[in-house]
Amino acid sequence: MCGIFGYVGGRTDAAHIVFEGLKTLEYRGYDSWGVAAVTSGKIIVKKKTGKIGDASVADMPASSFAFGHTRWATHGGVTQENAHPHLDCTGTIALIHNGIFENYERIKQTLIKKGHRFVSETDTEVLVHLIEEYRKSMLFPKAVQKAFNEMEGLNAIIAIDIADGHLLAARNGSPLVVGFGDGENFLASDAVALTPHTKQVYFLDDDEMAIIGANGIMIFDAKTGEHVTPAVQKLVWSAQQAEKGKFPNYMLKEIHEQPGIVAEIAASGGSRAERLSSLIREAYGTYMVGCGTASYATIAGQYLFSKIAHRHVNCAIGSEFGYTLDFLTNKSVVLAISQSGETIDILESVKKAKMRGAKIAALVNVLGSSLYRLADERVMIGAGPEKAVASTKAFTGMLAHLIFVAYVLAGEPVKGKKVIAKAAVILKQLLSAGPVEDIQKLAQRLKDSEHMYVIGRGLSYPASLETAIKIKEISYIHAEGLAAGELKHGPLALVTKGTPVIAFLPNDETYGANLAGSMEMKARGAYVIGVSYKPHEVFDAYIHVGDAGEATIIPNVVVGQLLAYYLTMARGLDPDKPRNLAKSVTVR
Ligand code: F6R
Repeated sequence: MCGIFGYVGGRTDAAHIVFEGLKTLEYRGYDSWGVAAVTSGKIIVKKKTGKIGDASVADMPASSFAFGHTRWATHGGVTQENAHPHLDCTGTIALIHNGIFENYERIKQTLIKKGHRFVSETDTEVLVHLIEEYRKSMLFPKAVQKAFNEMEGLNAIIAIDIADGHLLAARNGSPLVVGFGDGENFLASDAVALTPHTKQVYFLDDDEMAIIGANGIMIFDAKTGEHVTPAVQKLVWSAQQAEKGKFPNYMLKEIHEQPGIVAEIAASGGSRAERLSSLIREAYGTYMVGCGTASYATIAGQYLFSKIAHRHVNCAIGSEFGYTLDFLTNKSVVLAISQSGETIDILESVKKAKMRGAKIAALVNVLGSSLYRLADERVMIGAGPEKAVASTKAFTGMLAHLIFVAYVLAGEPVKGKKVIAKAAVILKQLLSAGPVEDIQKLAQRLKDSEHMYVIGRGLSYPASLETAIKIKEISYIHAEGLAAGELKHGPLALVTKGTPVIAFLPNDETYGANLAGSMEMKARGAYVIGVSYKPHEVFDAYIHVGDAGEATIIPNVVVGQLLAYYLTMARGLDPDKPRNLAKSVTVR
């Protein structure tokens, strides 16, 4: 959460470079934004609340040294005063921050007694005054290091001092990536923002600090002061991949990328599936962990491994796994699934599992992310940069990999490849004009609904959970995903005339029971939308999805994505940046 971008170099449009970087990172937080540029011995700051939208920094002075921030509010409301960057009392130090400075309160009181004046309600501002205090008796880099080492919690900071000329960055928990240029250098909270400028990057590790100048970057351990030789990595993503292209927003673009991604996993995911399956085969207990949408991939994994490979694999939610892992041993395997690889609830539980000796495997989309670096075995999802807050292509990528792994475990890799390739073909049909128009019309009909149910059994249960989360997070319609058998244990009480129910009925062993669930809903007046391989008279609306065996879950969830997307458009909302949310959840 929160986007950070910094530039130091020979160009004179630093504020503009930073501002463009922030636009790329805005999915990380869009409560407010701010840019600080150093020019003629002064720090000039521009801050605004709300999304960047049509704003510009054309009114900022020429500068070759600037940084900026997009905020997802933690401490203090969404106001201009609380937006970053924050300045010290002298106006000569500026700071931006991602994370939560857990022990800020006590330090703030001490600083107030020493005469520091605070203008915001943020924890961040406390740190800039602490640096100011330390700078009275030591050089700026030492002051930043000392202040950073006093911070409790998971944080990333960047500080600048008008007299210093370097970006000073440090991280513990929240991501920071250094970009190496030619006579210029960069810093960002996500490598995707660096792709227009450089492919040579270094992902800062926890407790590392970087001093970034136009002609050099120095990395050292913030605790010991020892120098670190950075292992520079080459980015594989291109700047074009992170652009919207012909689409009106990122979500629609990412939905339409899915046939290609799923087809690519079918064609070349075999060796990745081999690596994961041999780990699982040798393990004494495998545990999958993910958050939100990725947690539904773990539930799907549980069904897939049982059904295809006859293996029991446990699944857990990242934020809860830490409380239930005392039984892990050095024979356990934890498969952590994450698009960003930065979700703090996953990282924390995985670290605990690692301390118990468990082997960590990661199914992750972002190269060099914290999870990627923490894992003993890494498999890249290969979905390319995902920028809409609601996860789409990373999720179907996760599903395709899990299907492949289950088939490899079962000794049937060719069959795995076949069903995934079939799902890619069905996806292509689903995303063609006719089916999309049908879903658009349905969305128009349902757009004023207050509540919706999504039901299914077996693999359609995680599909229901996923469809419900998509609908609520972007269209703000309350949707509940349910195992269809649970209806009569309570939720049926809320069904009244016209309540929309999306029912998944693939061609598998759950068909009859799912049909029974749809009928129970219909008998209470529900408006039943059947998502199935064949029509049925119980359906008030029907969306055809062909049969791809166990991989049918992939096109099924894409129906959910499309419906959520068009409901959102019909309600005049922004699908890429839903209220109160941000991508990459790096706070607890
Ligand atoms: C929902 C969504 C979130 C993420 C969750 C985990 O559409 O995007 O629920 O799935 O925050 O994120 P990652 O996969 O980055 O760990």
